[in-house]
Amino acid sequence: MDTASLFALALEASRASYSPYSRFRVGAALVAADGSVFTGANVENRSFGLTICAERSALVAAISAGHRGFSTIAIATPDSKGPVSPCGACRQVLSEFMAPEAQVTFGASCNELVETTIGGLFPFDALHDLKGTF
Ligand code: THU
Repeated sequence: MDTASLFALALEASRASYSPYSRFRVGAALVAADGSVFTGANVENRSFGLTICAERSALVAAISAGHRGFSTIAIATPDSKGPVSPCGACRQVLSEFMAPEAQVTFGASCNELVETTIGGLFPFDALHDLKGTF
């Protein structure tokens, strides 16, 4: 799937956001190794620390459906002035299932997309070497 189409799915997913506290909707669309796409939105909670970001919503849906590896993720933040990159927690969690060269696209709209990689967002991932050793 091309980047623009994947971003459009992320934007569509942001419409399901539950964000009454921040009023900041986020949607994510994640491509699994077999090409299937999973989407997610941010889900806030009145105990603020329990908020789940859109990226982790999409990832948890995909993992729960049996997928383990992902090539690409697109993230849409339609309520921001410009592109908003994934938070630190999401960078860590995505890196568990995505290779350093996996593609990441984010933006507030399709007019201004930033393209990077998991390795670009989360360099010096020494803990990645521990994967599979336990
Ligand atoms: N949020 C995400 O879902 N993903 C991001 O990449 C940035 C932040 C959510 C968390 C919270 O619901 C709202 O955006 C404001 O931080």
